[in-house]
Amino acid sequence: MSEVNRYEKIPNNVNLSHDRRLQRALEHWLPKYQSWWQDMGPCGDWQDKDIYLRTAVSVDADGWADFRYVKMPDYRWGIFVPPATPGRTIGFGDVADQPVWDKVPGEHRNILRRIIVTQGDTEPASVEQQRMLGNTAPSLYDLRNLFQVNVEEGRHLWAMVYLLQSYFGKDGREEAEELLQRRSGNPDKPRILDAFNQPCSDWLSFFAFTMFTDRDGKYQLASLAESGFDPLARTCKFMLTEEAHHMFVGVTGIERILQRTAQITKEDPGEDVRKHGCIDFETVQKAVNFWYSYSLDLFGGEISSNAAQYFSTGIKGRYREKDQYTEHAALDQFKSVPVVENGILTSREVALRNAMNEVLRDEYVVDCQKGVDRWNKTLEKEGVDFRVTLPSRRFHRHQGEYSNNFFNREGDLIDEASFRAKEKDWFLQSEDFSYLDSIMQPCYERGKMANWIAAPRKGINRQEPDFEYVKL
Ligand SMILES: [Fe+2]
Ligand SMILES: [Fe+2]
Repeated sequence: MSEVNRYEKIPNNVNLSHDRRLQRALEHWLPKYQSWWQDMGPCGDWQDKDIYLRTAVSVDADGWADFRYVKMPDYRWGIFVPPATPGRTIGFGDVADQPVWDKVPGEHRNILRRIIVTQGDTEPASVEQQRMLGNTAPSLYDLRNLFQVNVEEGRHLWAMVYLLQSYFGKDGREEAEELLQRRSGNPDKPRILDAFNQPCSDWLSFFAFTMFTDRDGKYQLASLAESGFDPLARTCKFMLTEEAHHMFVGVTGIERILQRTAQITKEDPGEDVRKHGCIDFETVQKAVNFWYSYSLDLFGGEISSNAAQYFSTGIKGRYREKDQYTEHAALDQFKSVPVVENGILTSREVALRNAMNEVLRDEYVVDCQKGVDRWNKTLEKEGVDFRVTLPSRRFHRHQGEYSNNFFNREGDLIDEASFRAKEKDWFLQSEDFSYLDSIMQPCYERGKMANWIAAPRKGINRQEPDFEYVKL
């Protein structure tokens, strides 16, 4: 591992200048990436503006990033991989305690490539989904946070492309090209995963996306940070550092909406908050229902032989496998998974390895609930009765065990007609989107907030409330 070369064409700490072939491949990809960013990155005049952004500059726990004004196209998208831990061994599966792999084992090549491509594909996808939001941000603070998330998703793409180009030869280079060719929501060349083809064109959806969908990212990255393929494990570990901010944007964004709505509710009790241009609680709940259920899909099938294979072969571990578990084989253990059999909801005992997606989803659900508890505490403090809830994990699923049936929010099996009859109460409808569009007017005066959202508790990097996060 070399020191950080911040001023090379591609900032990196992976000694790129000593690997001519890789350096050439990445430098060849760079202009294609830049043109993708121009075409599909934030829309509007934002590319020319100075934005107060943090840039990853090292892998040290403290001082890993610096904050300064940057124009987005000049952002230093770099490659940062924490150093290898000497003597690291694989932490789980049939290969537990064997040395980690510095190269891709031939027998796992296709699976590892698929996993890296699937993760990599989500990164530019989310930038595409969010590209219009800069035109309607509720404040300069939020505008800056949006762009921070966007440039870091761009860097996450770089991280995955680095792995593809360094370890997967010609196929890796082809995959790197294709990552720039698919487009979120495009019927002919969609992004790989469903959640990343859904429109995200208002700020309520953006906050729900960063709360729930970026949080899926956290769990996928954390389980890959356990991988026996050491370069992947280390790369993912560093990406988690940046991911924390994305989830912060989501959890605090929704919290600030709820807080504002609570204040208005108290000021004018019994009146529809939409009259004040605010977002009613039911509308927030609908966005939660949608993005939470789509994000649950990202964990894969509840009962999955792929998941068992990834675990047994040391490719993908459980969340904090080494810290959290004492037994790493996961053999002769079972997990009870609710399933529908003969039209009845019952449960099946599934070999634990085959239930690894569900084990990871359990961790995710607990983490989401913590965020919801935080929102509800804010509502309680504000003295209003409404509480946000997470629907059952069976509700509104498009992947896995529950995708062939219909369930209500509580997780009871219902028929399709009953589901369709309730859809308008459960999900944002076109009139909700029209309303959201009508109130999402940009608010770009320093220190000001749109009426539908409370001010943040503190500034980014301890800046004052009226800090000029974006120079207009
Ligand atoms: Fe990401
Ligand atoms: Fe993210």
